[in-house]
Amino acid sequence: MEDRKTDPSLLFSTPEAERRSLFAKKTVRDVNVSGKRTLVRVDFNVPEDDQGNVLDNTRIEATLPTIDYLINHQAKVILVSHLGRPGGKFDRRYCLDSVARELSKLISRPVKKMDKTVTSEVSQAVSEMKNGEVLLLENVRFNPGELSNDQEFAKKLAGLADIFVNDAFGTAHRKHASVVGIAEYLPTVSGFLLEKEVSTLTSLIKNPAHPFIAILGGNKISDKIGVIDRFLDIVDGILTGGGMCFTFLRAKGMSVGKSLLEANQLELAAKMLKKAERNGVSFYLPADVVAAEQISSQAKAIVTTVDKFPSNLMGLDIGPSTIEIYRQVIARARTIFWNGPLGVFEIDSFAQGTKEIAQAIANQTKHGAVSIIGGGDSDAALKKFDLEDQVSFVSTGGGASLKVLEGTSLPGVEVIADK
Ligand code: 3PG
Repeated sequence: MEDRKTDPSLLFSTPEAERRSLFAKKTVRDVNVSGKRTLVRVDFNVPEDDQGNVLDNTRIEATLPTIDYLINHQAKVILVSHLGRPGGKFDRRYCLDSVARELSKLISRPVKKMDKTVTSEVSQAVSEMKNGEVLLLENVRFNPGELSNDQEFAKKLAGLADIFVNDAFGTAHRKHASVVGIAEYLPTVSGFLLEKEVSTLTSLIKNPAHPFIAILGGNKISDKIGVIDRFLDIVDGILTGGGMCFTFLRAKGMSVGKSLLEANQLELAAKMLKKAERNGVSFYLPADVVAAEQISSQAKAIVTTVDKFPSNLMGLDIGPSTIEIYRQVIARARTIFWNGPLGVFEIDSFAQGTKEIAQAIANQTKHGAVSIIGGGDSDAALKKFDLEDQVSFVSTGGGASLKVLEGTSLPGVEVIADK
């Protein structure tokens, strides 16, 4: 039985079947996997500590429905993932050994971990697999052909299997060999996680209950401009924080001291503010912020209103008046999307904004609102404040979830066979 957080059927009034129809692609349900070598692209790009232990297994857990299904249907399960950005060459820090151990614990059965991705040893190990066995290839990004979507490399990967299953939602926006190129050579279907993510996020923008508000933080406007543009056609309000709000404040002609600024996005930011006005969308910028000379737990933090921004300080969190205003907006919302922390929440003196906004979202969810959280940093914040189980849905994809919401089709989904 899935819980409220992971079962999208509990999120919307739209029936499950109707939502699934938003994902008109074949899934593992539509093919016979019994006895077949199924190569499953997963996104096990998880945080690890200095000793290489998995710090957060959410992304691994999220693929279990697909892995369990394949095991139970007697498939030979060959998993392929990336970890980090090793730059096309071997780097011990990014080996998948501890990921294999974590997965093995979660599925309570052995996971054979290979030290390479595509070599004769790997082919040999695959040929010896029995139905229901699980094998994990080494980090696919140790191969230079992965990022360049090299066809030769994709063909070699495909040579290991009979069917390709893409369940790596977090990577579906990347045109890489193990996501896109491989589909040239194998029947390609989706796993359950990819299906659930795309249908849930698509449903969010198709049938949101109003008021619908988006809370956008994090550092960069440039990552979010597409989704802001799209949201301005759908939402009732946008609440901003994090480093990115300073580019908007600057675009309104305000001084922002030493705060993070994307000078090359100023024009676009001004355009978005105009569009918000045209469309009648309330676009909230912080009225006050917590500022300091540097990002450090030792730095003296002061609260300042944004119209009197000290030139020697940088804004590192939203301030108390802003938190209050945002809480009131959240308390009226029926649909909430949140991506990006409102401040440097890893440091206690700059964590209050993110904490209180996360609490307000959890509280409003309790009162019946649908809350969707996208992006690893917001998820990490929810975990830090122990609120992860109090929102409706946490996406496992950061960049990928923004792409779906901005209406861009994902290369990794495009190559999956249509229903
Ligand atoms: C992510 O963590 O967002 C995905 O695993 C994709 O990783 P990437 O940004 O390194 O491609």
